[in-house]
Amino acid sequence: MILNKKEIIRILSDERREQQLWQKANKVRQENVGDDVHLRGLIEFSNICRNNCMYCGIRKDNKTICRYRMSEEELISTAEKAAQMGFKTIVMQSGEDMYYNKERLCRIIEKIKKFDVAITLSIGERTYEEYKAFREAGADRYLMRIETTDKDLYHKLDPNMSWQHRYECLLMIKELGYELGSGIMVGLPEQSIESIADDLLFLKDISVDMAGIGPFIPHPQTPLAKETGGTLELSLRTMAVMRLLMPDINIPATTAMESLHPQGRIKALQAGANVVMPNVNSVEYMKLYELYPHKPTQGFSQSDIVKKIESIGRCIGKGYGAHQRKN
Ligand code: 5AD
Repeated sequence: MILNKKEIIRILSDERREQQLWQKANKVRQENVGDDVHLRGLIEFSNICRNNCMYCGIRKDNKTICRYRMSEEELISTAEKAAQMGFKTIVMQSGEDMYYNKERLCRIIEKIKKFDVAITLSIGERTYEEYKAFREAGADRYLMRIETTDKDLYHKLDPNMSWQHRYECLLMIKELGYELGSGIMVGLPEQSIESIADDLLFLKDISVDMAGIGPFIPHPQTPLAKETGGTLELSLRTMAVMRLLMPDINIPATTAMESLHPQGRIKALQAGANVVMPNVNSVEYMKLYELYPHKPTQGFSQSDIVKKIESIGRCIGKGYGAHQRKN
């Protein structure tokens, strides 16, 4: 669907008709990507990060958290277990931890590929040479949120980082033939509805294959501890508009939505989302990967997420769940 900025702003601001919006996005989702919900096994393999993003619980200056880094063997065996559990995609996510250099990561990717899974990397900004090497080693997809397209806000929130550089990284990833995932946070301090509308048009413009949208949730051990944070409702409206703008892409029901409401992900699946990324780490690691507070720390095997998905008439996708472009 083609919507201009003015129309997007109007829809995002219309709290009174949000139910209709969610229903419409749900219908567009069903017509374009069907009832399958694709599960991705998420492995958060290191919470060590060189960056200092003001919103993020694993920022470098947060000295109150215990840092961990899985060994190569542990990361590979966790991926193997996830593959045995039936996951057809493994998402390898970490802080920007440079211990995991090109050689190490390529070695790991090659080994994990043998488990017959698609691999998504979510490890932040790297060089072209590294992105290229990871791709050649077998990585299929790359996930990196732009966070916001308001450059002034970005530079306030991500000190010592460059919006332009992040954007260029996304272009490199695309050029190398990865499926590209990006996304934003909703409800950042000083972020306006106009700016969220720009974000959505940006994601369409760079033609993402996947768009992750979640509320900003203030973390007590960060400089933004006292800020208000985003609401589930505005996040769901933003996600629903994304579905209208890009009917055939993959859209995850994000974990941050679940942090704000026990049914957050189910609500998202009924408002345009078609992907869920259950964490396959042990609970000990999950607790240490606290990007924001109240992040669910239930292991996948203990969770009833599959039952919940089936209870709303949806089925678990059996394939790799790649983006199928319709036009
Ligand atoms: N609230 C919500 N999302 C957050 N992220 C990081 N910190 C927070 C927070 N406090 C998101 C960012 C990042 C992704 C991995 O987690 O969008 O890209």
